[in-house]
Parts: sequence; structure tokens; C-alpha cells
Amino acid sequence: MALDIVILAAGQGKRMNSALPKVLHPLAGKALVRHVVDAARSLNPRRIVVIYGHGGEAVREALAAPDIGFARQEPQLGTGHAVMQALPLLAQPGPDDLTLVLYGDVPLTRPASLAALVGAAAGGKLAILTVDLGDATGYGRIVRGAGGAVLRIVEHKDASEAERAIGEVNTGIMAVPTRRLGGWLDRLSNSNAQGEYYLTDIVAMAVGEGVAVATAQPSAEWETLGVNSKSQLAMLERIHQRNIAQALLEQGVTLMDPARIDVRGLLSAGRDVSIDVGCVFEGDVVLGNDISIGPHCFLRNVRVRAGTRIEAFSHLEDAEVGAHCRIGPYARLRPGARLDEHVHIGNFVEVKKSTIGAGSKANHLAYVGDAEVGRKVNIGAGTITCNYDGVNKSKTVIGDGAFIGSDATLVAPINIGAGAYIGAGSTITKEAPAGKLTLTRAKQATIESWRPKAKRTD
Ligand code: UD1
Ligand code: CA
Repeated sequence: MALDIVILAAGQGKRMNSALPKVLHPLAGKALVRHVVDAARSLNPRRIVVIYGHGGEAVREALAAPDIGFARQEPQLGTGHAVMQALPLLAQPGPDDLTLVLYGDVPLTRPASLAALVGAAAGGKLAILTVDLGDATGYGRIVRGAGGAVLRIVEHKDASEAERAIGEVNTGIMAVPTRRLGGWLDRLSNSNAQGEYYLTDIVAMAVGEGVAVATAQPSAEWETLGVNSKSQLAMLERIHQRNIAQALLEQGVTLMDPARIDVRGLLSAGRDVSIDVGCVFEGDVVLGNDISIGPHCFLRNVRVRAGTRIEAFSHLEDAEVGAHCRIGPYARLRPGARLDEHVHIGNFVEVKKSTIGAGSKANHLAYVGDAEVGRKVNIGAGTITCNYDGVNKSKTVIGDGAFIGSDATLVAPINIGAGAYIGAGSTITKEAPAGKLTLTRAKQATIESWRPKAKRTD
């Protein structure tokens, strides 16, 4: 059996009130339709076809990949018409081949639920993913005969009072024997309340031809929820984040409040990791064992090794943090920051494209950019690496055990030798030799003749 998957994504999404096509709106940092494509791929299909619509070239660009075909549906004459556009892209079907129809704006369906649906269609059946809703308004209803067998789907707008009382609805997701699909779609008519070619009408055709119709249910209702508005998008985001938080708790991560964490990518955590409220994780974040992250930190594509503490309000991006470091509060690690173990980066310290050796500290108010900092270096408050002359970036090299006094400006390219001392307030433009005190400092003067100006009294 070969599986083809058709993803319907031609709908305009007017209610999003946005220039961005609906299915490209991000959920957990990833386009809605990308969630659907990822779920589709997990079923190892032969082919994935995305149906996009007017203004949807951005959809095509966003998803371009060798295993994805695209068909444009213009104008949009209904879900049946949408699936029709995919047919030329599907291979000559074998006897047991199936086509699974998904919606690009229904992002949270679990692969296991899709696999169960595909399983239910085995043996040439048509299988529909259905769900029982308290309020089924707007949905297509599953009409069953006296014996319980599915007879057809009736759309809300076409349904009678009695049919509208049915709580079991079509989620829109169905698996159809590919060999029969083309013939059924050819026979669709648009004489219905919406003047559309309904994909759902193929169910009655299947029944008429003696093709068995099966149903499967997802384990949770949210798997079938779609996005038509920003408010629904926000609701699904919360559901998805709650699920991620729950999975982290089950793995043993301590979350101070599972309702106040956002993971937009992959967060992997070792044992005894604790995360305070308001943290945002993006891209790939890997946390080792025994790590604590204070409130309101942001980490994007970061690797942190065991025993490190990241204090409140720290911002880390494309950075590597070694074991037993102390970062923050209010620290910023920018792309290319690589810290060895036992490094301390304190408040209002920014590190960019620099390596910092074991045991080194920059505890307050400093900028370290394009630098190679050795081990056990002390970088005083207010120290700046002047790495940029307006045209080029240059490198600062600081040897092991150097002590940089407060408020030093190190004008790169510059070399500070191992064990060198730099006097506070110095502007260093030439090599500072190892093991020696180097400073540049204007002489302090007191002006004896100076008198304070008389203050105005009016
Ligand atoms: C559809 C189903 C309904 C089901 C409901 C679940 C039909 C006729 N009805 O209704 O039984 O309960 O979904 O949400 O299938 N689309 C296109 N091209 C089109 C029309 C739609 O690509 O011409 C896409 C949309 O972008 C969307 C999906 O198909 O992703 C469903 O379209 P929508 O208009 O939301 O269908 P409903 O009327 O809600
Ligand atoms: Ca819909």
C-alpha cells in the first residue's frame, strides 16, 4: 500500500486580518502548515501535495522541498474541487493505495491518530476522522443508518433540524482509496447551499458503490481544531504549549508554572533541570543535568552544560555555555559566545563571537566581542573590547590569568599577555606584556583657584 497525502491550504483566511497567508502564521514558532507537513512526513508517504490558493506563492516558497508537490486552486470552489487539483500529481494508483486528506490550518493532529485512520481504511475502505462535539454548529455531520453504518456527511448549511442534532462531526481529515477518488470527484455537483464542490459528498458515493466507510477518533478533541482567526490561533498555541509543558514535567523537569513557559522548537533537558516562569525557548536548546534557569530568560539555539545557573532576565542566542557557569541576571550572550566551565557572566555584560576560558569572570557592565579570553581572567566592570573601527572587526586576545581593571577600553586588534594587569580606566592600543602592569592615565589634578558659581536666589 502506498500513501499519498493532500494538504488543503487554499482558503484565504480572511478572518486573520493579515497580509500573511493563514497557513503561514506561526504556532510555536512554526508555520501552521509546516506542523501539518511534519505530521504528514511521519507517515512516510509516497507523495505530499499542497493545494495553495490566490496569493499563496509564499506558501509554495515556504514549503519548497523535493518530496512536496504543489497545485494551485484558483478559484476556490470547495474542498472537493481542491482535492481534484491534486490528482494530476498523484502517481498511477495501485489497488490498495490511499490518499489522506489533511487541512493546512489544522496543525495539532497527532501522527498516531493519522496512523490509526490510515489503518482503519485498510482493505479498500474510506475512513473518516470524526469527533463528538457538544456544539457541532458549522460542521459537517456524520449521518448513520439504523445499524450504525455511515451513510453520508451532510454539511451544516444543508442539514435538516434532525441532522443538526447529530453531535458526531467530520473533522475534514479522511483517507480515501486512491483508485476510486478520481471517479468520485468527477461526479461531484455544486448544487447545495454553498454552491461548492464538497469533498464530503464522496462518502454517499462510496456507500452507493458498496465501499465500506469506517471512522476513527483522535484521542483528544484539540487534535482536530482549526485556525480561522487570531483568537483561535492563540487558543491552539496555549493548548500546544500546555502539552509541551506536560511532556517536560513527565520527563522530570521542574517548571515553576507549566502555564508560563513557551517552547518554540525543541527543548531537551537532562535530570534535575528547573525552569522558572516566563522563559522562552526557541530553536534547538539542549540543557544538561542540574541546571536552573531563573525567571524571564530567553534562549535560542543554545547548549548549556551541567550544573550551570542562568539567572533572571538573561538573553542567550546561538551560544554555548560550559558546566558550572553562572550567567546573569541580565546577561546577554550573542551568537558565537562560547564559554568554558566555571565562567561567570554578570549583569549587563554582553558577549559576542568570543571564547571565554574556564574560571574567567566578567561580572558587571562589559562588552566582550570578537575576543579570545583565556582561563581565570578577570574582566572589570565597564570594560569594553573596541572591536569595530567602523569598517572592520578586529580581535582581542587576553591571556590566562590577566586582570583587566574597571572601565578599560581594549582597542582591537590587541593582545593582552598572560597575567598582565591593566590599570582601571586605561585605553589600551598596543600590546600589554605578560605579567606586567600596563596603564594609560591622565594625571589627576585639583584646581585650587576654582570657586563654585553663586546660586541664583530668585
Ligand atoms: C469542512 C467540511 C466539513 C467539516 C469541516 C471541518 C467540506 C465540504 N466540509 O467544512 O464537513 O466538518 O471542514 O472543519 O469539506 N479549502 C481549499 N479550497 C477550497 C475550500 C477549502 O483549499 O476551495 C481548504 C481550506 O483552506 C481549509 C479546508 O479546505 O483548510 C476546509 O475548508 P473550510 O472552508 O474551512 O471548510 P468548512 O466549510 O469548514
Ligand atoms: Ca473550517
